Amino acid sequence: MRLIILGAPGAGKGTQSRFLCEKYGIVQISTGDMLRSAIASGSAVGREAKQVIDAGKLVSDSIIIELVKQRLAKNDTARGFLLDGFPRTVPQANALRDLDFKLNAVVEIHVPHDEIVRRISGRRIHEASGRTYHVDFNPPKVAGVDDISGEQLIQRVDDSETTVRKRLQVYQEQTAPLIDYYSKWSTSGDPAAPKYIAVQGKGDVEAISHSIAEALDSA
Ligand code: AP5
Ligand code: MG
Repeated sequence: MRLIILGAPGAGKGTQSRFLCEKYGIVQISTGDMLRSAIASGSAVGREAKQVIDAGKLVSDSIIIELVKQRLAKNDTARGFLLDGFPRTVPQANALRDLDFKLNAVVEIHVPHDEIVRRISGRRIHEASGRTYHVDFNPPKVAGVDDISGEQLIQRVDDSETTVRKRLQVYQEQTAPLIDYYSKWSTSGDPAAPKYIAVQGKGDVEAISHSIAEALDSA
């Protein structure tokens, strides 16, 4: 199974990715998580990415495409993978297409922008794994602590309201065109095209997971 999960910041890509990767036994490739680890490790990519991410803008296509190519070359992707947060621009989508992986589906999670600001302000993450919670909507078993490792949860630096609004604007300008890109490709008659699945991302987390799984299983 090879999937792309597409959606605005805070749409629930990370949350649903965790469920889908467990269900299909595939690896999650989150470019956001990879960049946050690069920042934490102090690498050259991390140093370059930090200011861009904190400002709510996109890291350059050349850095991201190289990062994803290297990640996709690892052995653990052989059973399948889920791309979370990539591609995010048309040049990234074209670069992925050039790699010639047969993608099963693109899943778009649609959430209204007013709901997104509310979600992101309550988000807490486990930095080492990328596991994501929400203080009200998806709380950990013990407040402030990761369910699996027992380590402290943190808030992301780019989750302030001003930065979230900037990220939403960037999404609209640079990533939303991929909705057309993939939905048109899926109906073009090209046998290599992935199926396009759009789900409503507002409501119960498990109900959303269920509707994605149902759509994928019938695809
Ligand atoms: P990235 O980490 O990918 O951030 P993002 O796309 O802005 O998405 P988020 O992680 O904020 O949201 P999500 O959709 O994963 O939602 P989540 O499941 O956490 O990227 C960060 C930055 O890195 C970018 O801004 C950019 O600078 C850079 N970058 C990354 N990839 C790049 C690329 N390809 N090219 C260039 N630059 C790149 O859910 C959000 C909250 O809502 C959580 O608290 C969750 O618990 C809660 N929640 C989830 N579902 C529900 C529900 N149904 N109801 C209520 N609450 C819910
Ligand atoms: Mg995420």
